[in-house]
Amino acid sequence: MISTQLLDATSNSDIAIAKDILQRGGLVAVPTETVYGLAADAMNPVAVHSIFAAKGRPSDHPLIVHIAGAERMVDWAVDIPPVAYQLAARFWPGPLTLLLRKGPRVPTEVTAGLDTIGLRVPANPVLLTLLKDLELGVAAPSANPYKRLSPTSAAQVFAQMSGRIDAVLDGGDCEVGLESTILDLTGPQLRILRAGPITASALEQCTGLAVSQPLQHDMAVPGNVAEHYRPHTPLYIATREQMEAAIQKNGRRIACLFYASAPVNSRAAQTLVMPHDKALYAQRLYKTLYSLDGLGLEAIWLEYPPSDEQWRDVNDRLARAAVIP
Ligand code: TXA
Ligand code: MG
Repeated sequence: MISTQLLDATSNSDIAIAKDILQRGGLVAVPTETVYGLAADAMNPVAVHSIFAAKGRPSDHPLIVHIAGAERMVDWAVDIPPVAYQLAARFWPGPLTLLLRKGPRVPTEVTAGLDTIGLRVPANPVLLTLLKDLELGVAAPSANPYKRLSPTSAAQVFAQMSGRIDAVLDGGDCEVGLESTILDLTGPQLRILRAGPITASALEQCTGLAVSQPLQHDMAVPGNVAEHYRPHTPLYIATREQMEAAIQKNGRRIACLFYASAPVNSRAAQTLVMPHDKALYAQRLYKTLYSLDGLGLEAIWLEYPPSDEQWRDVNDRLARAAVIP
């Protein structure tokens, strides 16, 4: 066990501590606009190794490297196609990870032995300044124990990772709340490997190229396992009718998360209404599941959100988080 410092991103002296830890090869959980990441100097193989140990993550699941700007891509990747710069100009800083051919200087630990590398410029201003000042890239997976919900607040990281990492840099709640879109630029066609806040249509509009989004992509993205993002309490995704039946049967032992509005007299132990708006829904999803998970109830029932394209990332994560999607 190590003692984990809680650092405040609005304090210059705390930022200096976070920088020092990263430079010395330590682990700092950092805020990004998507979810909190567990960061280490990506050029330091020992530091990168300790990310896997702290998360309990299998060593064959590659990490995303966070960089200060598109001009830094050349430090990490080779054979960068022009479309990468086009996408970077439009979506960076932001929730888009570009998969490129890995450069020779990148430690194999980062990419789990693969010859590709995921790169992203995060939009959180504190992290971005830190990356610029330190002149390094940080490897950072979501800052949760393997298979668990990704954290969207420093408190959640601290609760789950305290004792295993050097520090948590508290930069407030994450604005987006769901992990980045992963786009593979190494094949003959642009291909989404993980649905995220930036949709296939938005990518097509930017590039003028077709973007494919296969349903089965566990091979291309080793960490994209079917069972992921799991709360400890079983999560069921259901229709409103199925939820009302569950309340009739077992209302006192379950939490219900309705979409946009709740039935007038729901008698569940907890009844919550998720936002109608996609961006707000995504921002609150993990946080809500995490807080309900702490209540020790028998189950969490969640009403299906819409299924159109902009909800694809939400539905993807729910399908992995649920016992019965
Ligand atoms: O929004 C995000 O992307 C967050 C924040 C912290 O940036 N990061 C994140 O990292 O979600 P992580 O490690 O939890 O998920 C990254 C996914 C994993 O499924 C991993 O296997 C995949 O990206 N990945 C990373 N590099 C890859 C590569 N070279 N080839 C294939 N998949 C890769
Ligand atoms: Mg993750």
